Amino acid sequence: MPEITTLTLNDGHTIPQLGYGVFRIPPAETEKAVTEALELGYRHIDTAAIYGNEEGVGAAIAASGIPRDELFVTTKLWNDRHDGDEPDAAIRESLDRLGLEQVDLYLVHWPTPARDNYLHAWEKLIELRDAGLARSIGVSNHLVPHLEKIVAATGIVPAVNQIELHPAYQEREITEWAAARDIRIEAWGPLGQGKYDLFGAEPVARAAEAHGKTPAQVVLRWHLQHGNIVFPKSVRRARLAENLDVFDFELTADEVAGIDGLEVADGGGRVSAHPDELN
Ligand SMILES: NC(=O)c1ccc[n+]([C@@H]2O[C@H](COP(=O)([O-])OP(=O)(O)OC[C@H]3O[C@@H](n4cnc5c(N)ncnc54)[C@H](OP(=O)(O)O)[C@@H]3O)[C@@H](O)[C@H]2O)c1
Repeated sequence: MPEITTLTLNDGHTIPQLGYGVFRIPPAETEKAVTEALELGYRHIDTAAIYGNEEGVGAAIAASGIPRDELFVTTKLWNDRHDGDEPDAAIRESLDRLGLEQVDLYLVHWPTPARDNYLHAWEKLIELRDAGLARSIGVSNHLVPHLEKIVAATGIVPAVNQIELHPAYQEREITEWAAARDIRIEAWGPLGQGKYDLFGAEPVARAAEAHGKTPAQVVLRWHLQHGNIVFPKSVRRARLAENLDVFDFELTADEVAGIDGLEVADGGGRVSAHPDELN
């Protein structure tokens, strides 16, 4: 089994730097997919209430026999549940579906600024953490103004910000702001969701050739060397194994810089919704 790097969060808890994301895996296929991932050595699963597949994740965990303290499970609060005591109900429902007493990480999924209640959602997550329902808490898709607002109001700094990040879209303003405050970056869509020709890009292909690795492995390695937490999604066992096999080589500084250079100017490389526009 590969030795997966572990990072320490700003609350002192640890997280495996590479995990398995289950976005768009149909509920009926999720138990099998997560079971395969756990068999291969994945110990960190990233799901969300909106994915509709928390039950499948929970079934695979229960059947695996892996001790709870060897697993890291993240789920997320959906956008229509920021108000009042909705976050309390939402996390309890997620825990029920997952068959767990506590998640390792609970995130506010999107700030949805037009609803203007992400600060309240963050205040509720602090309470849920204090009540022991989530060990660590963080946010997702938060831009710097959203982060500034919740930190200024509560004094509690999120453990992570889970954002779209891949070579074409590197979010340097957020990553620099986060690094200065010891917020870990979780890079979603680490492979660009297959929406542009990342694997054919010259710096990626050249490094793959040099190290005898696949382009996907080179891109994941680029993330790891930048300190990003990643959880690439695949429903194919061979790719699950491939995506895990990234801890036995190191990109050179020049190779990293070459991939850094793939960023598309003015945010043009984004493959999904802008956080200010998703409400
Ligand atoms: N917080 C958020 O708002 C948010 C949004 C999106 C995603 N996420 C999280 O981030 C995780 C990962 O992001 P993502 O699923 O959007 O995108 P991704 O991991 O960048 O890309 C997944 C795509 O890449 C393909 N793929 C995976 N491994 C490959 C390999 N070794 N070689 C070639 N192709 C490969 C998969 O196809 P196959 O399945 O056919 O192999 C799938 O089409 C999600 O599962 C979810 O947990 C969070």
